Amino acid sequence: MKSSQRRIDKILVTWYLENKRDLPWRQAKVPYQVWLSEIILQQTQVVQGLPYYNKFVSAFPSVHDLAKASEQEVLKLWQGLGYYSRARNLHHTARQLSENHNGIFPQTFEGLLSLKGVGVYTASAIASICFDVPKAVVDGNVYRVLSRVFGLDLPINETAGIKRFQELADQQLALDDPGTYNQAIMEFGALQCVPKNPNCEKCPLVNHCVAYTTGSVHGLPVSIKKIKVKTEFYNFLVLQDHTGGIWMRRRSDQGIWPNLYEFPLIETAEAVDQEYILTQAHAMLEVSDNSIQALEQYNAVPWAHRLTHKKLMVVFWLGFVEGTLPKSYPVAALEGLAVPAIIARFISKAVPFTRQN
Ligand code: ADE
Repeated sequence: MKSSQRRIDKILVTWYLENKRDLPWRQAKVPYQVWLSEIILQQTQVVQGLPYYNKFVSAFPSVHDLAKASEQEVLKLWQGLGYYSRARNLHHTARQLSENHNGIFPQTFEGLLSLKGVGVYTASAIASICFDVPKAVVDGNVYRVLSRVFGLDLPINETAGIKRFQELADQQLALDDPGTYNQAIMEFGALQCVPKNPNCEKCPLVNHCVAYTTGSVHGLPVSIKKIKVKTEFYNFLVLQDHTGGIWMRRRSDQGIWPNLYEFPLIETAEAVDQEYILTQAHAMLEVSDNSIQALEQYNAVPWAHRLTHKKLMVVFWLGFVEGTLPKSYPVAALEGLAVPAIIARFISKAVPFTRQN
Protein backbone atom coordinates (compact mmCIF):
# COMPACT_ATOMS: atom_id res chain seq x y z
CA MET A 1 0.00 0.00 0.00
CA LYS A 2 1.28 3.49 -0.77
CA SER A 3 2.39 5.13 2.42
CA SER A 4 -0.04 8.00 2.05
CA GLN A 5 -2.91 5.51 1.77
CA ARG A 6 -2.21 4.04 5.16
CA ARG A 7 -4.76 5.27 7.62
CA ILE A 8 -4.00 6.10 11.22
CA ASP A 9 -7.18 7.99 12.11
CA LYS A 10 -8.96 5.15 13.89
CA ILE A 11 -5.95 4.30 16.04
CA LEU A 12 -5.51 7.98 16.96
CA VAL A 13 -9.18 8.46 17.87
CA THR A 14 -9.25 5.26 19.96
CA TRP A 15 -6.10 6.36 21.76
CA TYR A 16 -7.59 9.84 22.30
CA LEU A 17 -10.82 8.61 23.83
CA GLU A 18 -8.79 6.69 26.40
CA ASN A 19 -6.04 9.21 27.07
CA LYS A 20 -7.34 12.72 26.48
CA ARG A 21 -6.98 15.37 29.12
CA ASP A 22 -10.13 16.62 30.71
CA LEU A 23 -9.99 20.22 29.49
CA PRO A 24 -12.80 22.71 30.12
CA TRP A 25 -13.28 23.78 26.50
CA ARG A 26 -13.67 20.15 25.43
CA GLN A 27 -16.87 19.65 27.34
CA ALA A 28 -19.60 21.50 25.48
CA LYS A 29 -17.99 22.58 22.17
CA VAL A 30 -19.03 26.20 22.75
CA PRO A 31 -17.52 28.24 19.88
CA TYR A 32 -16.58 31.14 22.18
CA GLN A 33 -14.67 28.81 24.49
CA VAL A 34 -13.02 26.84 21.71
CA TRP A 35 -11.97 30.08 20.01
CA LEU A 36 -10.56 31.47 23.25
CA SER A 37 -8.65 28.27 23.98
CA GLU A 38 -7.19 28.03 20.49
CA ILE A 39 -5.99 31.65 20.52
CA ILE A 40 -4.35 31.13 23.91
CA LEU A 41 -2.84 27.79 22.86
CA GLN A 42 -1.13 29.45 19.92
CA GLN A 43 0.94 31.26 22.50
CA THR A 44 1.74 28.46 24.88
CA GLN A 45 1.22 24.81 25.75
CA VAL A 46 -1.91 23.45 27.38
CA VAL A 47 -0.42 23.26 30.90
CA GLN A 48 0.67 26.91 30.86
CA GLY A 49 -2.37 28.10 28.89
CA LEU A 50 -5.04 26.56 31.12
CA PRO A 51 -4.84 29.15 33.96
CA TYR A 52 -5.16 31.94 31.38
CA TYR A 53 -8.16 30.27 29.83
CA ASN A 54 -9.80 29.92 33.25
CA LYS A 55 -9.12 33.55 34.11
CA PHE A 56 -10.65 34.74 30.84
CA VAL A 57 -13.76 32.58 31.11
CA SER A 58 -14.47 33.56 34.68
CA ALA A 59 -13.91 37.27 33.96
CA PHE A 60 -15.77 37.14 30.64
CA PRO A 61 -18.18 34.18 30.54
CA SER A 62 -19.55 35.15 27.13
CA VAL A 63 -18.39 36.93 24.02
CA HIS A 64 -20.60 39.89 25.06
CA ASP A 65 -18.75 40.20 28.36
CA LEU A 66 -15.42 40.21 26.56
CA ALA A 67 -16.75 42.81 24.14
CA LYS A 68 -17.79 45.07 27.03
CA ALA A 69 -14.36 44.93 28.68
CA SER A 70 -11.84 47.70 28.22
CA GLU A 71 -8.71 46.98 26.26
CA GLN A 72 -6.70 47.48 29.44
CA GLU A 73 -8.65 44.75 31.25
CA VAL A 74 -8.07 42.33 28.37
CA LEU A 75 -4.36 43.13 28.14
CA LYS A 76 -4.03 42.74 31.89
CA LEU A 77 -5.45 39.20 31.80
CA TRP A 78 -3.24 38.39 28.81
CA GLN A 79 -0.13 39.62 30.62
CA GLY A 80 2.68 37.07 30.45
CA LEU A 81 1.50 35.40 27.26
CA GLY A 82 3.31 37.86 25.02
CA TYR A 83 2.44 38.90 21.48
CA TYR A 84 -0.14 41.45 22.61
CA SER A 85 -1.59 41.98 19.15
CA ARG A 86 -3.30 38.59 19.65
CA ALA A 87 -5.09 39.97 22.70
CA ARG A 88 -6.11 43.10 20.81
CA ASN A 89 -7.45 41.02 17.91
CA LEU A 90 -9.35 38.85 20.39
CA HIS A 91 -11.00 41.93 21.85
CA HIS A 92 -11.71 43.43 18.43
CA THR A 93 -13.36 40.22 17.21
CA ALA A 94 -15.44 39.91 20.38
CA ARG A 95 -16.77 43.44 19.82
CA GLN A 96 -17.49 42.77 16.18
CA LEU A 97 -19.40 39.57 16.96
CA SER A 98 -21.25 41.10 19.88
CA GLU A 99 -22.26 44.30 18.12
CA ASN A 100 -22.99 43.02 14.62
CA HIS A 101 -23.77 39.32 14.93
CA ASN A 102 -25.60 38.94 18.22
CA GLY A 103 -22.52 37.26 19.62
CA ILE A 104 -22.91 34.31 17.26
CA PHE A 105 -19.85 32.82 15.59
CA PRO A 106 -19.86 32.03 11.87
CA GLN A 107 -20.32 28.31 11.24
CA THR A 108 -18.23 27.94 8.10
CA PHE A 109 -14.46 27.79 7.61
CA GLU A 110 -14.53 30.89 5.38
CA GLY A 111 -16.74 32.81 7.79
CA LEU A 112 -14.42 32.04 10.68
CA LEU A 113 -11.36 32.90 8.61
CA SER A 114 -12.78 36.38 8.02
CA LEU A 115 -12.53 37.17 11.75
CA LYS A 116 -9.56 39.26 12.80
CA GLY A 117 -6.85 37.14 14.39
CA VAL A 118 -8.29 33.87 13.07
CA GLY A 119 -5.99 32.17 10.56
CA VAL A 120 -6.22 28.89 8.69
CA TYR A 121 -5.27 26.82 11.72
CA THR A 122 -7.75 28.44 14.12
CA ALA A 123 -10.58 28.51 11.57
CA SER A 124 -10.03 24.79 10.87
CA ALA A 125 -9.97 23.97 14.57
CA ILE A 126 -13.17 25.86 15.44
CA ALA A 127 -15.02 24.75 12.29
CA SER A 128 -14.20 21.08 12.81
CA ILE A 129 -14.62 20.94 16.59
CA CYS A 130 -17.82 22.99 16.82
CA PHE A 131 -19.50 22.49 13.44
CA ASP A 132 -18.15 19.16 12.08
CA VAL A 133 -16.61 20.93 9.07
CA PRO A 134 -14.09 18.56 7.42
CA LYS A 135 -10.95 20.72 7.70
CA ALA A 136 -7.70 19.17 8.90
CA VAL A 137 -5.62 21.20 11.34
CA VAL A 138 -1.85 21.33 11.02
CA ASP A 139 0.05 22.63 14.03
CA GLY A 140 3.44 21.72 15.47
CA ASN A 141 2.06 18.52 17.01
CA VAL A 142 0.55 17.43 13.72
CA TYR A 143 3.81 18.05 11.84
CA ARG A 144 5.64 15.87 14.34
CA VAL A 145 3.19 12.97 14.23
CA LEU A 146 2.79 12.91 10.43
CA SER A 147 6.49 13.39 9.66
CA ARG A 148 7.39 10.46 11.88
CA VAL A 149 4.61 8.04 10.98
CA PHE A 150 5.07 8.61 7.25
CA GLY A 151 8.82 9.23 7.36
CA LEU A 152 8.32 12.54 5.60
CA ASP A 153 11.47 14.65 5.77
CA LEU A 154 10.37 17.69 3.76
CA PRO A 155 11.10 20.83 5.81
CA ILE A 156 7.99 22.01 7.65
CA ASN A 157 8.96 25.66 7.17
CA GLU A 158 9.21 25.65 3.38
CA THR A 159 6.39 25.94 0.86
CA ALA A 160 6.70 22.43 -0.60
CA GLY A 161 6.70 20.82 2.86
CA ILE A 162 3.81 22.91 4.15
CA LYS A 163 1.75 21.89 1.11
CA ARG A 164 2.62 18.18 1.38
CA PHE A 165 1.85 18.03 5.10
CA GLN A 166 -1.49 19.75 4.58
CA GLU A 167 -2.35 17.17 1.87
CA LEU A 168 -1.37 14.32 4.14
CA ALA A 169 -3.40 15.79 7.02
CA ASP A 170 -6.40 16.20 4.69
CA GLN A 171 -6.11 12.58 3.55
CA GLN A 172 -6.03 11.31 7.11
CA LEU A 173 -8.94 13.42 8.34
CA ALA A 174 -11.77 11.26 9.67
CA LEU A 175 -14.75 12.67 7.83
CA ASP A 176 -17.34 11.23 10.21
CA ASP A 177 -15.93 13.17 13.16
CA PRO A 178 -13.30 15.68 12.04
CA GLY A 179 -13.33 17.60 15.32
CA THR A 180 -12.49 14.58 17.43
CA TYR A 181 -9.87 13.43 14.93
CA ASN A 182 -8.19 16.87 14.88
CA GLN A 183 -8.03 16.99 18.65
CA ALA A 184 -6.83 13.39 18.74
CA ILE A 185 -3.80 13.99 16.53
CA MET A 186 -2.88 17.20 18.40
CA GLU A 187 -3.27 15.50 21.76
CA PHE A 188 -1.24 12.54 20.53
CA GLY A 189 1.57 14.89 19.54
CA ALA A 190 1.37 16.70 22.86
CA LEU A 191 1.34 13.60 25.09
CA GLN A 192 2.68 10.56 23.23
CA CYS A 193 4.68 11.54 20.16
CA VAL A 194 6.63 14.21 22.08
CA PRO A 195 9.68 16.01 20.65
CA LYS A 196 12.29 14.42 22.94
CA ASN A 197 12.56 10.79 24.01
CA PRO A 198 9.06 9.61 23.10
CA ASN A 199 8.13 6.30 24.62
CA CYS A 200 7.84 4.41 21.33
CA GLU A 201 7.62 1.01 23.05
CA LYS A 202 4.19 1.86 24.34
CA CYS A 203 2.96 3.70 21.26
CA PRO A 204 -0.14 2.39 19.46
CA LEU A 205 1.41 3.44 16.14
CA VAL A 206 4.74 1.69 16.64
CA ASN A 207 4.01 -0.87 13.93
CA HIS A 208 2.90 1.83 11.52
CA CYS A 209 5.73 4.27 12.09
CA VAL A 210 8.37 4.69 9.36
CA ALA A 211 10.60 6.79 11.62
CA TYR A 212 10.59 4.10 14.30
CA THR A 213 11.52 1.41 11.77
CA THR A 214 14.31 3.48 10.26
CA GLY A 215 15.57 4.91 13.54
CA SER A 216 14.87 8.50 12.54
CA VAL A 217 12.39 9.51 15.24
CA HIS A 218 14.70 12.17 16.64
CA GLY A 219 15.52 13.63 13.24
CA LEU A 220 11.89 14.39 12.43
CA PRO A 221 10.28 16.73 11.70
CA VAL A 222 12.89 18.59 9.67
CA SER A 223 12.94 22.32 9.86
CA ILE A 224 15.41 24.38 7.91
CA LYS A 225 17.41 26.88 9.88
CA LYS A 226 16.84 30.07 8.02
CA ILE A 227 19.87 32.30 7.83
CA LYS A 228 18.95 35.81 8.63
CA VAL A 229 19.19 37.66 5.36
CA LYS A 230 20.45 41.20 5.71
CA THR A 231 19.24 43.89 3.35
CA GLU A 232 21.73 46.36 1.93
CA PHE A 233 21.24 49.17 -0.52
CA TYR A 234 23.64 49.36 -3.45
CA ASN A 235 23.50 52.81 -4.97
CA PHE A 236 25.31 52.85 -8.29
CA LEU A 237 26.41 56.21 -9.65
CA VAL A 238 26.02 56.36 -13.40
CA LEU A 239 27.77 59.57 -14.31
CA GLN A 240 28.33 60.78 -17.81
CA ASP A 241 30.91 63.44 -18.64
CA HIS A 242 31.02 66.00 -21.44
CA THR A 243 32.64 63.48 -23.82
CA GLY A 244 29.63 61.18 -23.32
CA GLY A 245 31.85 58.77 -21.40
CA ILE A 246 30.60 56.91 -18.32
CA TRP A 247 32.60 56.32 -15.18
CA MET A 248 33.26 52.62 -14.47
CA ARG A 249 35.75 50.96 -12.21
CA ARG A 250 36.92 47.49 -11.49
CA ARG A 251 36.04 45.66 -8.29
CA SER A 252 38.74 43.98 -6.25
CA ASP A 253 39.33 40.24 -6.41
CA GLN A 254 37.58 39.83 -3.05
CA GLY A 255 33.90 39.70 -2.08
CA ILE A 256 30.95 39.46 -4.40
CA TRP A 257 31.57 39.97 -8.10
CA PRO A 258 35.40 39.71 -7.96
CA ASN A 259 37.23 41.65 -10.70
CA LEU A 260 34.07 42.67 -12.49
CA TYR A 261 33.44 46.24 -13.61
CA GLU A 262 30.80 48.37 -11.98
CA PHE A 263 29.66 51.94 -11.67
CA PRO A 264 31.04 53.65 -8.57
CA LEU A 265 29.12 52.25 -5.63
CA ILE A 266 27.71 53.82 -2.49
CA GLU A 267 26.61 51.16 -0.02
CA THR A 268 23.98 52.09 2.56
CA ALA A 269 21.94 50.22 5.16
CA GLU A 270 18.73 51.90 4.11
CA ALA A 271 17.22 53.82 1.23
CA VAL A 272 18.83 57.23 0.83
CA ASP A 273 17.76 60.39 -0.95
CA GLN A 274 19.27 62.42 -3.74
CA GLU A 275 20.90 64.86 -1.35
CA TYR A 276 22.82 62.10 0.40
CA ILE A 277 24.01 60.62 -2.88
CA LEU A 278 25.06 64.02 -4.21
CA THR A 279 27.22 64.73 -1.16
CA GLN A 280 28.84 61.31 -1.31
CA ALA A 281 29.35 61.51 -5.06
CA HIS A 282 31.03 64.91 -4.88
CA ALA A 283 33.34 63.57 -2.19
CA MET A 284 34.20 60.52 -4.29
CA LEU A 285 34.94 62.65 -7.30
CA GLU A 286 36.84 65.20 -5.22
CA VAL A 287 35.15 68.03 -7.02
CA SER A 288 33.25 71.09 -5.91
CA ASP A 289 29.69 70.80 -4.75
CA ASN A 290 27.82 71.64 -7.91
CA SER A 291 29.75 69.66 -10.51
CA ILE A 292 27.17 66.91 -10.70
CA GLN A 293 23.98 67.96 -12.37
CA ALA A 294 20.53 66.59 -12.97
CA LEU A 295 21.12 63.66 -10.67
CA GLU A 296 18.06 61.47 -10.49
CA GLN A 297 17.08 57.98 -9.52
CA TYR A 298 16.63 55.77 -12.58
CA ASN A 299 14.32 53.19 -11.05
CA ALA A 300 11.73 54.51 -8.64
CA VAL A 301 11.54 51.07 -7.06
CA PRO A 302 14.94 49.50 -6.30
CA TRP A 303 15.73 46.29 -8.11
CA ALA A 304 15.90 43.47 -5.62
CA HIS A 305 18.78 41.02 -6.03
CA ARG A 306 19.07 37.93 -3.84
CA LEU A 307 22.47 36.64 -2.75
CA THR A 308 22.96 33.77 -0.30
CA HIS A 309 23.54 35.88 2.77
CA LYS A 310 22.04 39.17 1.82
CA LYS A 311 19.42 40.86 -0.20
CA LEU A 312 20.56 43.77 -2.30
CA MET A 313 18.29 46.63 -3.16
CA VAL A 314 19.91 48.15 -6.19
CA VAL A 315 19.35 51.77 -7.18
CA PHE A 316 20.96 53.44 -10.19
CA TRP A 317 21.51 57.19 -9.94
CA LEU A 318 21.93 58.97 -13.25
CA GLY A 319 23.73 62.30 -13.55
CA PHE A 320 26.01 64.49 -15.64
CA VAL A 321 29.37 65.95 -14.79
CA GLU A 322 31.24 68.93 -16.13
CA GLY A 323 34.71 68.06 -17.39
CA THR A 324 36.15 64.61 -17.87
CA LEU A 325 35.70 61.75 -15.42
CA PRO A 326 38.71 59.86 -14.05
CA LYS A 327 37.89 56.54 -15.69
CA SER A 328 35.46 57.23 -18.39
CA TYR A 329 34.37 54.63 -20.92
CA PRO A 330 32.53 55.48 -24.13
CA VAL A 331 29.00 54.12 -24.11
CA ALA A 332 29.85 51.75 -26.98
CA ALA A 333 32.57 50.17 -24.84
CA LEU A 334 30.31 49.35 -21.90
CA GLU A 335 28.88 46.23 -23.50
CA GLY A 336 32.38 44.84 -23.81
CA LEU A 337 33.15 45.06 -20.08
CA ALA A 338 32.61 42.12 -17.78
CA VAL A 339 29.95 43.34 -15.37
CA PRO A 340 27.59 41.73 -12.82
CA ALA A 341 24.34 40.57 -14.39
CA ILE A 342 22.27 43.25 -12.74
CA ILE A 343 24.49 45.96 -14.23
CA ALA A 344 24.33 44.30 -17.64
CA ARG A 345 20.55 44.41 -17.35
CA PHE A 346 20.65 48.07 -16.50
CA ILE A 347 22.99 48.88 -19.39
CA SER A 348 20.80 47.07 -21.88
CA LYS A 349 17.70 48.90 -20.65
CA ALA A 350 18.95 52.37 -19.90
CA VAL A 351 22.11 53.20 -21.84
CA PRO A 352 22.57 55.33 -23.83
CA PHE A 353 20.67 57.97 -21.98
CA THR A 354 20.48 61.58 -22.89
CA ARG A 355 20.69 64.72 -20.94
CA GLN A 356 17.31 65.89 -19.68
CA ASN A 357 18.11 69.59 -19.33
N1 ADE B 1 -3.34 22.38 20.98
C1 ADE B 1 -4.04 23.40 20.45
N2 ADE B 1 -5.32 23.11 20.38
C2 ADE B 1 -5.46 21.86 20.85
C3 ADE B 1 -6.55 21.01 21.01
N3 ADE B 1 -7.77 21.40 20.66
N4 ADE B 1 -6.31 19.79 21.50
C4 ADE B 1 -5.08 19.43 21.83
N5 ADE B 1 -4.01 20.19 21.72
C5 ADE B 1 -4.20 21.40 21.24
